[in-house]
Amino acid sequence: MNLSIVLCTIVIGISHLTNGQFQCPKKNGQYEDPVQCDKFYQCKDGMATTKLCPDGLLFHPLNRKVNKCDQPFNVDCGERSELQNPHPSYLCPRRNGYFAHPEQKVCNIFYNCIEGDGAEIVCPSGLDFDEYAGSCAWPATAGRSGCNESRRHEIERRLHVPQR
Ligand SMILES: *[C@@H]1O[C@H](CO)[C@@H](O)[C@H](O)[C@H]1NC(C)=O
Repeated sequence: MNLSIVLCTIVIGISHLTNGQFQCPKKNGQYEDPVQCDKFYQCKDGMATTKLCPDGLLFHPLNRKVNKCDQPFNVDCGERSELQNPHPSYLCPRRNGYFAHPEQKVCNIFYNCIEGDGAEIVCPSGLDFDEYAGSCAWPATAGRSGCNESRRHEIERRLHVPQR
């Protein structure tokens, strides 16, 4: 047997195996992977195709939208603790999502990353970015530590954030 036939046999073997791993519960629909929170299966006529959410988004089985990949704060992963490898870029630890300023001392700036492009957002005066909610909140709720208040005021002055 020549090498290409051997390789071909192996590849076909593997693809059968992976196709065989997920059994569609119904003919059509989208179903979560049991261990990986950003992975799901698209079933069409009983045939499953493996899919990944865009990096940073997670699969939310109960989402009523056709696109069920959502921000992490909207998704309960439960036992689905694994994730794809991150694809970071400047200011974006993953390609999508809301991320704190890379300096821990800067609590009132965050980045809205969409496909690797991070738009800088400054919180309204006195608020901190809350990493678990993906939005600005009062410091007691946001629970950030090591914030530099002089840096905050400097940033607010420079960017003309309206004072409360
Ligand atoms: C806080 O920020 C101010 C203004 O940028 C800076 O001068 C000061 O050294 C910072 N303090 C700490 C503890 O980092």
